[in-house]
Amino acid sequence: MKVSPSMLASDFSRLAEEVRLVERAGADMVHLDVMDGVFVPNLSFGPPVIAAMRPHTNLFFDVHLMMQYPDRLVDAFVKAGADSINFHIESAAPVQETLRRIREAGVKTALTLKPNTPAESVFPYLDQLDMVLVMTVEPGFGGQKFMADMMPKVTALRKEADRRGLSLSIQVDGGVNEETAKVAAAAGADIAVIGNAFFKAADPAALTAEVQKL
Ligand code: DX5
Ligand code: ZN
Repeated sequence: MKVSPSMLASDFSRLAEEVRLVERAGADMVHLDVMDGVFVPNLSFGPPVIAAMRPHTNLFFDVHLMMQYPDRLVDAFVKAGADSINFHIESAAPVQETLRRIREAGVKTALTLKPNTPAESVFPYLDQLDMVLVMTVEPGFGGQKFMADMMPKVTALRKEADRRGLSLSIQVDGGVNEETAKVAAAAGADIAVIGNAFFKAADPAALTAEVQKL
């Protein structure tokens, strides 16, 4: 699996060092959680903070937008340094048009599903997506328990992508650690978003290498 540490669990007073730690640990990409206080009951950070992190690593920036109107800020996030825009199918954004705008801005496209949203809801867009993110907790907060009952959803997405011959990446996000990453890999996920388990690990590089072996 690829490892994508979530900066939400990092020390915000030292973001530059934390993002350099992610790179030193050998991680594959960086997961950036944007919360608007409307779509989810929490606030995190936006384009200026992402732009401030950008000069400190060359790693791929995957921006997970937990926003009611993600379409309004696509260009701002691309300008800030996003390499992919990951937005929720449950948001108020016009899905087709937003995907097209993300593509035109020159970055990768991804749709995210909350736990109660079925896999089939993204099937109409699958051919236009680089990644799908399956939430394994209710979005809004780090440090929650992994919902193993989301694994059939991961498998359904993998099966449909294979059936269509698509090289789709499937991410899991929420409560992922060395143990739950195994379960997700077996179900067909290939990217592990890891927040608390990464930043609280005694040896983040060892954890990263362990998950990359899956
Ligand atoms: C939750 C976020 C996650 C979160 C994961 O809304 O989307 O990315 O930071 O953190 P952990 O791994 O601690 O559950
Ligand atoms: Zn996330």
